[in-house]
Amino acid sequence: MRIVPSLPLLAMAALASGQSTNTTSPIPPSSTTFWFPQPVDHFGLNNSTWNQQYLYNATFYKPGGPIYVLTPAESRLSNYYTDRTHFASLAQRTNGLLVAVEHRFYGKSNPMPDLSGASLKYHTIPNVLEDYASFIRAAQNNPSQVFSVPVTPGAKVVFAGGSYGGNVAAWMRAKYPDLVSGSWASSAIVYGRLQNYQFDQSYGTYLTSLGCGWDFGQAVSDLDSILLSGNATAIAAVQTKFGCPPLTAKDFAGLLSVLGTAYAMAPVTTNYNYANTFVCSYFNGTRSHLDTYAAIISDTITAMGYTQDSLSAMANTSLNIDNYALGQSSRVWYYQECTWSGNWQVAPPPSTGLTGYRSQLVDLDYFQPNCQNKFGSSIQIPVDVGSYNNNWFKILRGVSNIYYTTGSVDIWRDSTVAPSTGNVFVNSSSSPIFVIEGATHVQDLSADQPNDLPSVRWARALGDSQVLKWIS
Ligand SMILES: *[C@@H]1O[C@H](CO)[C@@H](O)[C@H](O)[C@H]1NC(C)=O
Ligand SMILES: *[C@@H]1O[C@H](CO)[C@@H](O)[C@H](O)[C@H]1NC(C)=O
Ligand SMILES: *[C@@H]1O[C@H](CO)[C@@H](O)[C@H](O)[C@H]1NC(C)=O
Ligand SMILES: *[C@@H]1O[C@H](CO)[C@@H](O)[C@H](O)[C@H]1NC(C)=O
Ligand SMILES: *[C@@H]1O[C@H](CO)[C@@H](O)[C@H](O)[C@H]1NC(C)=O
Ligand SMILES: *[C@@H]1O[C@H](CO)[C@@H](O)[C@H](O)[C@H]1NC(C)=O
Ligand SMILES: *[C@@H]1O[C@H](CO)[C@@H](O)[C@H](O)[C@H]1NC(C)=O
Ligand SMILES: *[C@@H]1O[C@H](CO)[C@@H](O)[C@H](O)[C@H]1NC(C)=O
Repeated sequence: MRIVPSLPLLAMAALASGQSTNTTSPIPPSSTTFWFPQPVDHFGLNNSTWNQQYLYNATFYKPGGPIYVLTPAESRLSNYYTDRTHFASLAQRTNGLLVAVEHRFYGKSNPMPDLSGASLKYHTIPNVLEDYASFIRAAQNNPSQVFSVPVTPGAKVVFAGGSYGGNVAAWMRAKYPDLVSGSWASSAIVYGRLQNYQFDQSYGTYLTSLGCGWDFGQAVSDLDSILLSGNATAIAAVQTKFGCPPLTAKDFAGLLSVLGTAYAMAPVTTNYNYANTFVCSYFNGTRSHLDTYAAIISDTITAMGYTQDSLSAMANTSLNIDNYALGQSSRVWYYQECTWSGNWQVAPPPSTGLTGYRSQLVDLDYFQPNCQNKFGSSIQIPVDVGSYNNNWFKILRGVSNIYYTTGSVDIWRDSTVAPSTGNVFVNSSSSPIFVIEGATHVQDLSADQPNDLPSVRWARALGDSQVLKWIS
């Protein structure tokens, strides 16, 4: 599970307002919701239909311009995706139409009436991709079916997404090269691992780059000597010290693994670094490692406004995903991990001898039992990550017109095509890979800001040059 603090988005500078090409069909505000009918299963297992939500922004569109399709992936759809990403500036430069299409089973795009295990069996990668392909076919072949403004048939499509949405973008180009001219895959987490302790190690690398990696590792190790001691009095006392409610040692460890990395995905700018301010600056030699860790966590709890009840719910390995109500993105995300790619964010197993930045109690046994408990005994344990990589990692090899980015201190870096150990794909001129020095997760996707790192600007410039090639 990934918890991203809500990040301030600076207001866009005033932009030239676009011109309508047809005065009888005014451009709708980008907050206007539209719905595209899709079958529950594209491969004939259930032919009932549901409506997929999408938004578009035609302010910059001129006849003949490209269509930028963005996926919010596991996030709820909003006109952030049409209006306030880097792609708005690309649309402005290229007379493009911006369209954001919600991902099945997230937000209001629900193929089934609930999120039971039986309903989620339609949550497959081929269905996800075919949803997007069906939408793009309509936008290209019969644009008046999806847009209330006139759009030239046969528009070139550029697909974009970040993190898991970057996977979707890359897969769309790989699987549907006739529909998608090129894809911008920002921090795409394309390589699956059952035990993704590399996630934990990337956090350590990030902290080390800021100067407190060793100290943080020491704090975790000092805490583990208490949590693994079995001394209930000492374990209860340390939970109080950290500002947390009484929990089992394992649940407490899991909670800290989330709270301790809370700032890891926040963007780094030329004048601000959340991880430095809220983690590393605390290790200033005035307190023990354990007391420093406690201060980091209790201040994070305050800053995020978590109550003791909300912490109990977050910590409960049951994850509050026991009911089947729609709109629980964490339940759907968990299903993906259980049935697609694993990627359990565990501590490095003791056999690796690596320093951990989360407790050793956060292991496969912390995550995996939820799969059958939440989604039914038909879920196969462990998830077949080998097949996932054979199908969905390998499909990307050698594909042209994908632009990959990752931050050098991105906590997900080692799941991307450019891990710290070296690129796993050839860095080709048709599908370049760009490591954004000093940046975290998906920083290139945001709209340009005055305090962006120069490396983030370079990443956008290289991406822009690719897009211009794809649509020419
Ligand atoms: C403008 O849009 C309307 C409604 O879609 C259409 O009937 C009309 O032909 C269009 N006019 C022009 C000049 O494209
Ligand atoms: C499209 O996005 C631009 C840039 O953010 C914004 O100024 C404009 O109002 C949006 N257009 C519509 C129709 O909402
Ligand atoms: C869905 O439609 C296809 C094509 O008409 C058909 O082959 C298939 O049996 C249908 N599936 C179900 C579950 O009815
Ligand atoms: C098919 O999808 C509909 C939702 O539109 C659902 O009510 C129905 O139970 C599904 N059938 C099966 C066999 O999953
Ligand atoms: C358990 O921890 C408490 C508090 O730290 C300590 O006073 C006590 O001696 C410990 N008990 C054992 C058996 O180590
Ligand atoms: C060390 O960090 C703590 C927590 O941020 C702060 O309260 C304290 O003043 C700092 N001490 C020094 C000497 O900088
Ligand atoms: C965790 O949550 C479940 C319900 O989702 C509840 O039954 C269980 O008692 C909770 N466990 C703890 C330790 O609070
Ligand atoms: C890939 O090649 C581009 C352009 O030649 C270069 O700017 C970039 O740094 C290279 N990236 C990596 C990860 O080697």
